[in-house]
Amino acid sequence: MRRPLIAANWKMHMTTAETREYITEFLPLVEGVDDVEIVLAPPFTSLAVAAKFLKGSNVKLAGQNVFWEEKGAYTGEISPLMLKDVECSYVIIGHSERRQYFGETDETVNRKIAAAMAAGLDVIFCIGETLEEREAGRTFEILKRQISGGLRNIKPDGLVIAYEPVWAIGTGKTATPEQAQEAHEFIRKELNSLYGDASEEIRILYGGSVKPENIASLMSQKDVDGGLVGGASLKPDSFSRIVRFKETEGG
Ligand code: 13P
Repeated sequence: MRRPLIAANWKMHMTTAETREYITEFLPLVEGVDDVEIVLAPPFTSLAVAAKFLKGSNVKLAGQNVFWEEKGAYTGEISPLMLKDVECSYVIIGHSERRQYFGETDETVNRKIAAAMAAGLDVIFCIGETLEEREAGRTFEILKRQISGGLRNIKPDGLVIAYEPVWAIGTGKTATPEQAQEAHEFIRKELNSLYGDASEEIRILYGGSVKPENIASLMSQKDVDGGLVGGASLKPDSFSRIVRFKETEGG
């Protein structure tokens, strides 16, 4: 059984004061939730304050990016050990915004995943096709390339995949549950050919305009094991309702 994972990707939002306020409001809203793993990915500048206020809680921390070297003359970069140092359990790698605006490729993403895992971080590895690629019927080809490139020589332990169709990110256009399931099923098959039975343990999150109103129907799909939430994670109330999706289902 894969335990659902719901992660908040705050992107470039929240000062340290806003982070503290958010966490103070959020923790009581998710108190006692233990059937869903909850993760927050604040910007780097908020990680230390978040770690302090999340201590002893049921919420884990993630970095939004990482560099592959341990240390050195790499101005502006953050190492896996630095993320461990501020108590991150996870790191998001290969987000489409990083691929689109910061030149990340399957190869650099692969180096980052390897370094993060070597340092003991679990990895949320993002993949997904653009609208143009989907309309050209290339979705599976793109996913296959991203998976084989990103996961070259990577072991499955501590690996989480996030399927984020680029056309659904920040656009209000969510993939239908069926579209998500179709892509997740394909991803699971690819993982199976890489890892065999171990692929059954790998969680595949959906990301792209996830909201309290659509999370339950996405989660009802067989291969959807959680969500990576941008905009709707910026308010404690809305994110806590996403985390508690089982209750909104009426179940
Ligand atoms: P939105 O939820 O704002 O569409 O963002 C999705 C995303 O990119 C999460 O990583």
